[in-house]
Amino acid sequence: MDYFVVEGPTPLRGTVRAAGAKNAALPLMAAAMLAEGRSVLANLPDLRDTRFFLDLLGEMGVRGELDGGTLTLDTTGGLTSTTAPYEIVRKMRASIYVLGPLLAVRGEARVSRPGGCAFGPRPVDLHERGMAALGAELAEEHGYIVARAPRGGLRGGRFRFDPVSVGATCNVLMAAVLARGESRLENCAIEPEVTQLVEALVAAGAHIEGAGTRTLEVQGVASLTPLEVAVIPDRIEAGTYLAAAAIAGGEVRVEGCRAGHMAPILAVLRDLGCKVTEHADDDDKAAAAEEAITCARTGPLAPVRVETQPFPGFPTDMQAQIMAAAALADGVSFVTDTIYPDRFTHAAELVRLGARIEVKNGTATIIGTERLQAAPVMASDLRASAALVLAAAAAHGCTEIRRVYHIDRGYERIEHRLTSLGARITRASE
Ligand code: UD1
Repeated sequence: MDYFVVEGPTPLRGTVRAAGAKNAALPLMAAAMLAEGRSVLANLPDLRDTRFFLDLLGEMGVRGELDGGTLTLDTTGGLTSTTAPYEIVRKMRASIYVLGPLLAVRGEARVSRPGGCAFGPRPVDLHERGMAALGAELAEEHGYIVARAPRGGLRGGRFRFDPVSVGATCNVLMAAVLARGESRLENCAIEPEVTQLVEALVAAGAHIEGAGTRTLEVQGVASLTPLEVAVIPDRIEAGTYLAAAAIAGGEVRVEGCRAGHMAPILAVLRDLGCKVTEHADDDDKAAAAEEAITCARTGPLAPVRVETQPFPGFPTDMQAQIMAAAALADGVSFVTDTIYPDRFTHAAELVRLGARIEVKNGTATIIGTERLQAAPVMASDLRASAALVLAAAAAHGCTEIRRVYHIDRGYERIEHRLTSLGARITRASE
């Protein structure tokens, strides 16, 4: 198994480019199942999760071809299987995304039920109840969710997501676009990744009103044309590299990101006392993809209060990285995760690096310290591992981080990008 060795402290200076967003790529890959023919996804990030998803689609007869950052998904001839097996689903919860497309296209699906994860129980009841609202019948068989559409296929329905769910919104939407009649989906997630899926489906011929709002009205169509879309930049990856400058010191510029997707993250970086500069070309919309953001730490960090919320609130996926920064702030910070109240496994590992953190009732209290020190630590989930890598770059000494396979799920070549910024980080195998 791979681990990272990080030698700190090193300030980080330089420029990195944001990759395509994992959380946008996965539903788009699933959506390719909805159309017969060759869908083309540009700016696809090369990650363990996108490769797992490609394997999963392969099980269903979708032929994938990855050429540089461009993925072609060919469904010509139809989907050959309706099963998402345990062996793949257990590695990647987002496998549940095939439920909606399979029901829509094949009228049946057998999807291994995703288990819990490092940050607590993660139910999929909204995915299931949303499919039921479109007429599907669901049963539990040996750890599999077995779903069947009524004779003649799914029909339009009405469903309200409570709480707001990124995954369930995408999944039920993918099922609704090919259902007979009208659907009304309420309290939908409006994360940029969801909006990109809505827009890509509309471009493929789906009738959806309300992109970017909490209510989506769908008029089912008989078929879609293949998708053609460039995956939006990863706001969490971009935010992680900007946070790196806050934690380790220095100045990091991230290119190819979208400031409009990152407002709450940039606000917290500013609250920490960093100088955040957005370099956008207002006159040229086409240049939006070329936006850049710089984050510079110019002095001591200030304490912050952060509460995670669905978009447009502060993302839970940035909570661990901001906690690593707060650990070095001059004062007491509070971080509350309202989405995953148990998502604090990184706190105990940051404590091993010298941070002073106490977690109680979904809130971490962080008493800032001047200096972190190296120690062996263990990554527990994707964003927790990112926080540990950044904290290690700021810590004095040589930190070993185990279980970095978590980080490979969602960060493209993180050690190369951090090395280019001046970090001393190497990947080793045991
Ligand atoms: C997605 C992201 C993940 C991010 C999360 C929250 C992907 C692949 N993953 O995960 O990185 O941390 O959004 O922004 O895009 N819930 C239910 N029942 C359900 C589904 C969700 O109760 O059926 C609850 C969850 O427990 C959680 C909340 O809804 O408290 C939000 O979760 P959700 O938005 O669904 O997260 P994911 O889509 O799994």
